[in-house]
Amino acid sequence: MAMILEKVVPFGRSWDEYVKMFNLAPTDLNGKVIGIGDGPASFNAEATQQGYDVVSVDPIYTFSGPEIQARFNAVVDDIINQVKATPDDWVWTYHQSPEALRTNRIQVLHRFLQDYDSGKAVGRYQIGELPTLPFPSGSFSLALCSHLLFLYSDQLSYEFHLRSIQEMLRLAPEVRIFPLLTLMLKPSPYLAPVMQALSSSGYVVAIETVAYELQKGGNQMLVIRT
Ligand SMILES: C[S@@+](CC[C@H](N)C(=O)[O-])C[C@H]1O[C@@H](n2cnc3c(N)ncnc32)[C@H](O)[C@@H]1O
Repeated sequence: MAMILEKVVPFGRSWDEYVKMFNLAPTDLNGKVIGIGDGPASFNAEATQQGYDVVSVDPIYTFSGPEIQARFNAVVDDIINQVKATPDDWVWTYHQSPEALRTNRIQVLHRFLQDYDSGKAVGRYQIGELPTLPFPSGSFSLALCSHLLFLYSDQLSYEFHLRSIQEMLRLAPEVRIFPLLTLMLKPSPYLAPVMQALSSSGYVVAIETVAYELQKGGNQMLVIRT
């Protein structure tokens, strides 16, 4: 299905945020890593600069850098205003305030845009979307998915979640997903049935607490290993 840019919130997170969201140790990044739904995160750019091997896949990579930047500019004020209007929903330990959050997201976007065209040219940013990704089985050692699955439980079905996670497990022996809350700050209703279904299929499934929390209560990731 063709992606409609007007439906996307192109907010991205940094390398440091990915490390904390996913409890990443240097050894976790020894192999080839795929970031699914990385959007305008600067994780790939910063990881590559440090010598790691990361591929990002996202339908938003159909668009040019200036198009992604324009979409960001169109939504950033509205999103920051929504955050300011709901002060009790957020934890201001990592980002100190809504304005600091805005500054971070702008810096991340610029870091991503600096890297985007050259990264795309060498295949580090690839167009694709769950639940079917354009890579051979076993292409990666670790698959990460930030701020897509579980977060958008009100928009994406249980079947979509399960098929998407099975697809990530086709690509990598370990999958990590963060956060486990919905946009409404509720635990995703899909978490328990997804964990049950994957355990029944023989996967090792665990919830781990991480050192990153912006959504109040959103400091857990799901880890699935074959
Ligand atoms: C809120 S952003 C998160 C970006 C990044 N992961 C981060 O945490 O900074 C969600 C991303 O998911 C992407 N997305 C939406 N539907 C997708 C799908 N079916 N498969 C993969 N990515 C998708 C969007 O284009 C967007 O870039």
